[in-house]
Amino acid sequence: MRIDIFSLFPEMFAGPFGSSILKRAVDQGIVNFNIHNIRDYTHDKHHSADDYAYGGGAGMVMKPEPVFEAVETVQAQAGDIINRKCSVILLTPQGRKLTQQAAEELAKYDWLLLICGHYEGVDERIREHLATDEISIGDYVLTGGELAAMVVTDAVVRLLPGVLGSGESLINESHTGGLLEYPHYTRPEVFRDWSVPEILTSGNHGEIAKWRRRQSIIRTAQRRPDILKMAELNSKEQEIVADLSTQKLEEKGV
Ligand code: ADE
Repeated sequence: MRIDIFSLFPEMFAGPFGSSILKRAVDQGIVNFNIHNIRDYTHDKHHSADDYAYGGGAGMVMKPEPVFEAVETVQAQAGDIINRKCSVILLTPQGRKLTQQAAEELAKYDWLLLICGHYEGVDERIREHLATDEISIGDYVLTGGELAAMVVTDAVVRLLPGVLGSGESLINESHTGGLLEYPHYTRPEVFRDWSVPEILTSGNHGEIAKWRRRQSIIRTAQRRPDILKMAELNSKEQEIVADLSTQKLEEKGV
């Protein structure tokens, strides 16, 4: 996969993209990142990438010309990859929310171009005529799209085949299959009087799998009842959820 990022602060990406799993993915040739400074595509003496808003009001708006020129120049230089599956994504709090499912969809693309907005916003024509998708990483406002672009990149790249090693499985993790992950423990077996659940040291893999599944269901019901509705539960598992609700009502004295 190729990922191009368009930003006014390209230096922000050096740390996250130069370490850990993202770096390994680059070293393995699974992904390549190109970070572009939008200011390199300005032509006035002050290299201005923003301007006052038509109609007045506080705050500056990112100008359309440098952003269009940056993206279109890179696309024109790209050769045949342009014919492959590509998406031009504007990071904005107004976009569709990044979910595990959205990350899985994005992981199917050959080329992602991420535009980081700044200031009060971007000229609407970028949204209308350049971006093919708009993504928000959550219902809060960041100072710019850079951190959001890093979050999207991280969530997508770790899904690419070969990126996670055998010890970093994608199976059973939170949000895959609509459930949160079960609790994990490692050595020591007793830490400050707190013991690892006995079942996990029993060696009985069938029972351990059952326990983990049950814990996932209980956790999701307690912490994220909103996502539990989307999980595929068999009738026995639905009973666990029903029992939890009854228990809750009883605790409340209803
Ligand atoms: N830019 C500012 N806030 C954002 C958010 N929540 N998601 C994506 N881009 C943003």
